[in-house]
Amino acid sequence: MSAPTLRTDRLVLRGWRDADREPYAAMNADPRVMQHFPGTMTRAESDAHADRIGEHFAEHGYGLWAVEVPGEVDFIGFVGLSVPRFESHFTPAVEVGWRLAAEWWRRGYATEAAREAVRFGFEDAGLTEIVSFTAPANEPSRAVMRRIGMTHDPADDFDHPALPPGHRLRRHVLYRLRRE
Ligand SMILES: CC(C)(COP(=O)(O)OP(=O)(O)OC[C@H]1O[C@@H](n2cnc3c(N)ncnc32)[C@H](O)[C@@H]1OP(=O)(O)O)[C@@H](O)C(=O)NCCC(=O)NCCS
Repeated sequence: MSAPTLRTDRLVLRGWRDADREPYAAMNADPRVMQHFPGTMTRAESDAHADRIGEHFAEHGYGLWAVEVPGEVDFIGFVGLSVPRFESHFTPAVEVGWRLAAEWWRRGYATEAAREAVRFGFEDAGLTEIVSFTAPANEPSRAVMRRIGMTHDPADDFDHPALPPGHRLRRHVLYRLRRE
């Protein structure tokens, strides 16, 4: 299954192209973008992640769409839906997530794209609940979650199983959104 193309007022959410890999690697090498992740990525790690995104679309029919600003720039990052590969108290689940190159922050693009990804998840993919999670200190990401109507119950907070005890990013907050 290839990625469906979605449109918002200002953005196109589309399947990935080979040409996206270079700007994707550049943003994954940017410490500002990766501040709330264990570290920046090498080109090989970034390409491997892009490969997994493509496989996810093939498997599920949705995924982390490449985001384009038509007439302005072909690739600013990803926004979309993803099935977490780890197990926790809230899995299996579908997550909405976002990662944009820093020069495209503070324009409302993440929120605009996330609303469309969530709409697709509920209306087209038939999901009944979508979650999102991040390190507590990632306030910009939590603000996107709040803006799209997600709610946070501290009782849902969890330790990310991929990170060892004591790691600065191990604790995570979980936000949920149910189909109305
Ligand atoms: C998380 C991330 C996508 C959030 O980006 P963001 O630019 O803060 O979020 P949005 O695109 O929704 O933009 C919202 C901001 O744009 C402003 N804005 C400007 N023009 C706007 C417009 N026309 N419409 C809406 N908002 C607009 C809003 O006021 C808001 O600013 P504020 O934070 O000062 O209130 C970004 O910080 C990022 O990529 N971080 C690195 C990766 C990461 O941590 N991902 C999440 C992992 S869980």
